[in-house]
Amino acid sequence: MSNPSVKSFWDEPTGSWQYVFHDPETMKGAIVDPVLDFDPFSGATSTANAERILDYVREAGIEVVWILDTHPHADHFSAAQWLSERTGAPTGIGEKVTGVQALWKEIYNLPPEFPTDGRQWDRLFADGETFMIGEIPVRVMFSPGHTLASITYVAGDAAFVHDTLMMPDSGSSRADFPGGSSKALYDSIQAILALPDDTRIFVGHDYAPGGREARCEATVAEHKVANVHFRDAPSEATFRALRDARDATLPLPRLMLAALQINIRGGRLPDAEGNTRSYLKIPLNAFHAR
Ligand SMILES: [Fe+2]
Repeated sequence: MSNPSVKSFWDEPTGSWQYVFHDPETMKGAIVDPVLDFDPFSGATSTANAERILDYVREAGIEVVWILDTHPHADHFSAAQWLSERTGAPTGIGEKVTGVQALWKEIYNLPPEFPTDGRQWDRLFADGETFMIGEIPVRVMFSPGHTLASITYVAGDAAFVHDTLMMPDSGSSRADFPGGSSKALYDSIQAILALPDDTRIFVGHDYAPGGREARCEATVAEHKVANVHFRDAPSEATFRALRDARDATLPLPRLMLAALQINIRGGRLPDAEGNTRSYLKIPLNAFHAR
């Protein structure tokens, strides 16, 4: 079994990392957490990030066999559907996404017929399930906390951990969105840190703190030594106190109320209205200003 080659793509406006990983033997690969660009001032969506990814896979000669999301994102729109239509590859996400759909269906007061059974994706992955990218088995690990549906994809020596750990100098991801839990996040990160020490951890976001360049990769061993939230092997209570206190100071993501409407639809815009245009809906006073 070989290890995957990994190419990362940073979206500067949202600090999101997107990945293509592939099996160098068979040249089959997967796209992880692609971004559909959205300008909240004009309401315009565009596909600059997704096109950059498509250009790369074409030039590298990679056959895309999966479009994977780790969770329904709160800070950007998913380009999974757009990329699936262009590549013919199926989309996948963790099966608990149905819980996130139900939660946000209520917040947005979506009509009763809005499906919350995950049919917007081709495949819903269960905890512990394995599927193949070429000859590389990819194992699904539930890693809730940031959202209740978050999963990690472990492919050979690479783990795509989304919003659990951040880069070592930034610690961990927030756990205060609807369905989030700092307790669950602690357990999920313990499971990730129990992977082999040389596992390459690829994170979901980086905000380039202090003006350093954006980074996406560190090993399990590096996190154990240097991660500012985990290097001292904190107890669950210590971590939760730190995480919850920090989360209470963070404003909600700029695009959260827009993004979830797209992302609980698997990266589709809401159904067009009679004039063929799609609209977003913003719930007033469902959340407190911070
Ligand atoms: Fe996220």
